[in-house]
Amino acid sequence: MTRTLWISIALAATACQQPEKPAVVSAAPSARAALEARTAATSNAGDAPGFYLGRQIAPTMSHEGADWLVRPEREGEESSARMLKELKLEPGMTACDFGAGNGFHTLVMAKSVAPGGRAVAIDIQPEMLELLRGRAKEAAVTNVDTILSTATDPKLPPATCDLILLADVYHELDDPAGVLAHLKRALKPKGTLAMLEFRAEDPKVPIKPEHKMSRAQISRELEANGFVLARSFDELPWQHLMFFSAR
Ligand SMILES: C[S@@+](CC[C@H](N)C(=O)[O-])C[C@H]1O[C@@H](n2cnc3c(N)ncnc32)[C@H](O)[C@@H]1O
Repeated sequence: MTRTLWISIALAATACQQPEKPAVVSAAPSARAALEARTAATSNAGDAPGFYLGRQIAPTMSHEGADWLVRPEREGEESSARMLKELKLEPGMTACDFGAGNGFHTLVMAKSVAPGGRAVAIDIQPEMLELLRGRAKEAAVTNVDTILSTATDPKLPPATCDLILLADVYHELDDPAGVLAHLKRALKPKGTLAMLEFRAEDPKVPIKPEHKMSRAQISRELEANGFVLARSFDELPWQHLMFFSAR
């Protein structure tokens, strides 16, 4: 295992309100404790371990369930093409898909920034990046770079990204403040960070509560880490799409 964290597979996602959502991976107790201590240190006083600014941090989705990310019904459920259009990507841009998984969004982002642009796919699981490279090869998409991150460091060079998308990943970050600090540095001066999260306010969205976020909580956490809300798109069926710039 080349990662800085020990990863253990927890196969009991049974209480999940999203039956198809696959198993989770989470840090082994010692690594998890270290991360929780660091997260607690950067959060408001009063946060219990495993919480950030009052929100329970979700476990990481395993690469073993990667097929779920490319399920045929996903476009209908999430209107992903509409979401991607709203990113306003242009040829020549550098667009980062942070927590890319097997690249459901990455490949479309890569096509949107061609010619001349690059899509940078980042994930903490090497298996996800392997699957992503395979999908890019099959689709003959050649302008994708991959970065294997750690739980705290996306390993992006400073001031390189026009846009960073976090699609259904922020809620499972072990170290939200640490990651946001790195992502802030990685944005170009006029760069944008796009947050896509399932709506916690809507009980009809069939996703487990800790895998959802409210609009207020998203703003609270981003603003606490030096971002300001620039605009939002409120017409997706299940998700918030909110755009932030660095303060
Ligand atoms: C629910 S999946 C979403 C994948 C993709 N964004 C999509 O919408 O298809 C979350 C992904 O985020 C990754 N992830 C979790 N924590 C991460 C971190 N600290 N840095 C990078 N990736 C992370 C997981 O490995 C997983 O592939």
